[in-house]
Amino acid sequence: MSFAFSDIPDQSGKTAIVTGANTGIGFAIAQGLARKGARVLLACRDADKAQQAQERLASGHERAVTEFLPLDLANIASVREAAERAGEEERIDILVNNAGVMMPPLSRAPGGCELQFAVNHLGHFAFTGLLLDKLAADGGARVVSQSSLAHRGATIDFDNLDAAQGYGRTKFYGQSKLANLLFAIELDRRLRAANSPVVSLACHPGIAQTELTRHLGVLGNLFGALVGAVLNTGEAGALPALQSATDPMAQGGDYYGPYGLREMSGRTSGRAIASKTARDPLLAARLWAKSVELTGIDPGLAPAPAA
Ligand SMILES: NC(=O)c1ccc[n+]([C@@H]2O[C@H](COP(=O)([O-])OP(=O)(O)OC[C@H]3O[C@@H](n4cnc5c(N)ncnc54)[C@H](OP(=O)(O)O)[C@@H]3O)[C@@H](O)[C@H]2O)c1
Repeated sequence: MSFAFSDIPDQSGKTAIVTGANTGIGFAIAQGLARKGARVLLACRDADKAQQAQERLASGHERAVTEFLPLDLANIASVREAAERAGEEERIDILVNNAGVMMPPLSRAPGGCELQFAVNHLGHFAFTGLLLDKLAADGGARVVSQSSLAHRGATIDFDNLDAAQGYGRTKFYGQSKLANLLFAIELDRRLRAANSPVVSLACHPGIAQTELTRHLGVLGNLFGALVGAVLNTGEAGALPALQSATDPMAQGGDYYGPYGLREMSGRTSGRAIASKTARDPLLAARLWAKSVELTGIDPGLAPAPAA
C-alpha cells in the first residue's frame, strides 16, 4: 500500500520529538506532524537555527505548536540532559531519530568515536535508551530511525570505530546508516520480546536535496541542485518518516522508503528493501552490546530469543 501526505491522520493531542528538525528532512517531518496538530519538540544543537525553524513553522501554519529541545548527539552529556528534559513531558507519542551528518573530513566525537557513527547511531541509541520508560507510558510510542539507501553494501567494522586504522568518508557514512537500520530492527525485536507497547520502525528518504551535502564542496552543491530537480525535495523525502510515525497500518519492524525510481524518489511512500546484513540478528546484537559499552547507557532490554 502506498502512503501520501493526504493519508497522514490527525495528530491532535500527540507530542513528537524530531531530531535535526531545524533544516532539511527533519524540518519537513516536523512540519508534517505540526500541521496535523501534533506538538513538536525540535531536538537541535543550535538555538538560533531552532528558533528560525520555529518561526518558519509558525508562519506557515498558525496551528503549529513547537518547542526547542537542545540536543547535541555527538556529546553524551548533552544527550543525557535532553533526555532528562524530554522526560518531563506529560507524554511522548513519537520519536523520530532523524539528525545526521554525511561524509565530513575525519572528525571524532568527544568520546573518541568517528563522528558519523557517533552522531548518526550512538547519540540516537543513547537518547532512545534513556527515554524508553517515558516512551512506554500512555499506550506506547513509535520510535522511527532514519536510515539510507547507503546502508546497502555497508558493514560494521567493530575494530575501527574510532577510525584510528583509516578513514573513508563514504564507507563510514554507509556504516552509520547500516547501524541505524540494525538498531531499529533489533530494538523492535527486543521490545516485542519484552511485551512492550513501544514500536520501532525505520525509513529512508531516497535521495533528497538538503544541506546534507554541506561537506562535499561545490560539486556537492551542484549534485544537490540536480537531486532537487530530478529526484526528491526535502519535503518529499520526509514522507517515509511521516508514514512510519503516523500510518495506522504500519507495524513495528517495518521499513519505509519512497515508492518510485528504485526507492530514490517519489510522491508516495511504502515498503522499502532492507539488506540481508541489516536484518542479521547476530550482527544487531553485537552492535547493541558495543553501543552500550561505548555510550555507557544500557536501554535495559534483553536480547530476543533466537527465532
Ligand atoms: N538528503 C538525502 O538524500 C538523504 C538520503 C539518505 C538519508 N538521509 C538521512 O536523512 C537525515 C536528515 O538529513 P538531511 O538530508 O535533512 O540533512 P541536513 O539538511 O544536513 O540536516 C541534518 C540535520 O542533522 C542535524 N545534526 C547534525 N549533527 C548533529 C548533532 N551532532 N547533534 C544534533 N543534530 C545534528 C543538523 O543540525 P545543524 O543544522 O545544526 O548541523 C540538521 O538539523 C540524516 O540522517 C541523513 O543521513 C538523507
